[in-house]
Amino acid sequence: MAIPVLTIDGPSGAGKGTVSRKVAKNLGWNYLDSGSIYRSLAIALLQKNADLTDEDKILEIARTLDLAFECNDELTVRLTGVDITAQLGTEATGNVASIVAAIPEVRQVLLQKQKDFRQLPGLVADGRDMGTVVFPDAEIKVFLTASADERAKRRYKQLIEKGIDANILQITREIEERDCRDRERKTAPLVQAENALYIDSSAMTINDVIAQVLSLVLPR
Ligand code: DC
Repeated sequence: MAIPVLTIDGPSGAGKGTVSRKVAKNLGWNYLDSGSIYRSLAIALLQKNADLTDEDKILEIARTLDLAFECNDELTVRLTGVDITAQLGTEATGNVASIVAAIPEVRQVLLQKQKDFRQLPGLVADGRDMGTVVFPDAEIKVFLTASADERAKRRYKQLIEKGIDANILQITREIEERDCRDRERKTAPLVQAENALYIDSSAMTINDVIAQVLSLVLPR
């Protein structure tokens, strides 16, 4: 029997990360934060000062990406043995990740790394193309979104709470730019899978979203 997968796709800032981690923990399943793979590649490129228009160089770095993940309450990511978790969440990392994620060969190189997370007893996979490309045979698929304004507000609050200076207008602009790039790219664009449940979390608490997603899995 295929190992069960629950996919949660949607734009950045919709709450996918928190919801996926909590749902995975509740079910005792593994967790894949596919964005962190693209973000790790972005960090490797930034560290090497790579030219983001040089696709051969980007591919070479993608092919030799040495990543290790550890997921307890929070996710820890190591790049060539060095903990890069603190740098993963920055806007600069997210923007570079979104730029290189639009290159089809990069997506192809990183595909197997993502599929390898499908281990017993099950997997919660969070990203943009989990239900459409990486795990199209997943039994349960969710498309989680929220208005751009609401996502910008949440991101602003997160940054301020971490003591990071932030500008709400700039965050809104960056979210809209990233959405546009992720939706418009030719390969594996951000799109709702045909059989995914659409959840708009704009007016919901995170706990309501978690409960709704869990209800899709638990009554079986
Ligand atoms: O989910 P996130 O914000 O950490 O993702 C960062 C970028 O990585 C996102 O803007 C696009 C890219 N990404 C992707 O193309 N496909 C995925 N499955 C996950 C992320």
